[in-house]
Amino acid sequence: MAVITLNPRSGKGTISKNIYGHFSEHLGRCIYQGLYVGEDSPIPNLRGIRKDAAEALRKIHVPVLRWPGGCFADEYHWRDGIGPRESRKRMVNTNWGGVVEDNSFGTHEFMDLCEQVGCDAYINANVGSGTVQEMAEWVEYMNSDGDSSVVLERRRNGRENAWGVKYWGIGNESWGCGGNMRPEYYADEFRRYQTFCRTYGQNRPFRIACGASDFNYTWTEVLMREAGRFMDGLSLHYYTVCGDTWEHKGSATDFSLEEYYKTLFKAARMDELIAGHDAIMNRYDPDKRVGLIVDEWGTWFDVEPGTNPGFLYQQNTMRDAMVAAVTLNIFNRHCDRVVMANLAQTVNVLQSVLLTEGDRLVLTPTYHVFDLFQAHQGAKEVACFVQADPAGTEKWCMSQISASASEKDGVLTVTAANLDAEKPAELCLTGFTATQSAARVLTGDIRAKNDFDASPLAVRPLETRLADGNVLLTLPRCSVAEITLS
Ligand code: AHR
Repeated sequence: MAVITLNPRSGKGTISKNIYGHFSEHLGRCIYQGLYVGEDSPIPNLRGIRKDAAEALRKIHVPVLRWPGGCFADEYHWRDGIGPRESRKRMVNTNWGGVVEDNSFGTHEFMDLCEQVGCDAYINANVGSGTVQEMAEWVEYMNSDGDSSVVLERRRNGRENAWGVKYWGIGNESWGCGGNMRPEYYADEFRRYQTFCRTYGQNRPFRIACGASDFNYTWTEVLMREAGRFMDGLSLHYYTVCGDTWEHKGSATDFSLEEYYKTLFKAARMDELIAGHDAIMNRYDPDKRVGLIVDEWGTWFDVEPGTNPGFLYQQNTMRDAMVAAVTLNIFNRHCDRVVMANLAQTVNVLQSVLLTEGDRLVLTPTYHVFDLFQAHQGAKEVACFVQADPAGTEKWCMSQISASASEKDGVLTVTAANLDAEKPAELCLTGFTATQSAARVLTGDIRAKNDFDASPLAVRPLETRLADGNVLLTLPRCSVAEITLS
C-alpha cells in the first residue's frame, strides 16, 4: 500500500500557471505545418493558424508560449518577419535542417497565435548575432503606444495598439549556440541589454537572463553574483536523454524496460537540479525575487527513422507521459522558486503535445498529462508526503509513486503517477476530509502511443468511479491520475 499524506495547512505558495507553458521554435515542422499553414492552405485555418492546433492548446489552457527559439532566436532578426509577406527576407535556417525560412510567420502572426490560443507571449530576443538597438526597437514595436516611427511602422502593418508583451528572454543558451560566451562576459551583456529593454506605460518587461544547462552551477553562481539584481528571471535547460551520448539518444518508441526506468530516473533528477540551482540563488536572493524559468525541458530521443535529422521529430509514448508527470510534480513542489516552465516543443518537435501529418492531428500521451494537471494552474500548493515501495532496477531505482497536490476554490487536486511498468499500486490518501471524490486516469503499456493510422485515440484519460469521499484507489501500472477531493 502506498500512502500520500496531505497537509493542506502547509505548502510553498501559489503554483504559477506559467509552469504549464510551452515552447515553439522555427524548427522542423513546429511552426510551419504544425501551427501555421498559411491562409491559402486547404487545412482549416484562421489567418493561417491551424484551427485544430489552436483549439487543442486552448483546451489545456496553455498559459504562455515561448518563441522564436531556441538556437534560432540568436539568428533571428525580427524586422525580417514584418510587413507584406511577399517581400519578406528569405534566409537559411542554419541551426535546423538548412531549410529556407521565408519569414511568413513573424511577430504579427505569433501574436495572433497567442491571441487565438489565449496565452501570453514570451519573446526570446537575439543577443548572439543581434544588437541592443534591434532588441530595444522590438520591445518598442510591441509595447509602446508613443508617437514614434517604430510605433507608426507597427500601425502601418495593421496593429493599432501595443500588445504589451511581458516576458522577454535576453539571449538563448549564450554559453553555446547563442554565442559561446563565458558567464562573466554574458553577465555584462545581460546587464547592458536589459537596460534598454524599456518600460512603456504600464508594460514593464519581466527580464529573463539566459541560465545554465543542466548541472552547470558555475553559470548560475556567476550570473547571480554579477547580474542577479538586474534580472526578474533566470532560465534553466534540462533535457531527458535516454542514451549515453548525443549521437545515440535512444529510440522514442522502441525501448527496453530498463531504458524505461533509466529515462524516468534521469527525468526525476530535475528535483536535485532545481534544488542545486535554488541553493545558489538563495545566497544572492534569499527572498526568491528572481524566478527560475525552466524554459526548455522534456525528452530528447533519436529522430523517427526516415525523417530529417535537423527536424527533431519524435513519437511520444506513455514513457513520455510519465516523464511529464514526474517533472510537473517536481515543478509544483518547487513553486516558490520555479515560476515558469516551457515544454520543448509544442508540435512535431521533441516531446510534443501535438503531432500533425497533413490535415491530421493527434494528441500525444504528454498532451493528456497537461490536461490532467490543469487544476494546479494558479492553485495553492499543498505539502504532500509520499510513502511507497521502490520501482525500477537496482541501478535505476526510484519511488514507485510521484505526486504533488494543490487546493483551489475548496477543491483539493492530487496528481499521482505509478512509475512501475508492471505492478499496480494500492493508494491511500490521508490528512484531510472529503465528501466527494473523482479521478481521471491515463494508463497503458510503456510503449503505447497515439498514431495517425492505427490508433489515434489509443491513449487517453478515463474517468474512474470512486465512492463519495473515497480515499483509496488502485493506480494501474504505468499510469498518471488526477484525483479531486472536496
Ligand atoms: O529545443 C531544441 C534546442 O535545444 C533549442 O533550440 C536549444 O535552445 C536547445 O539546445
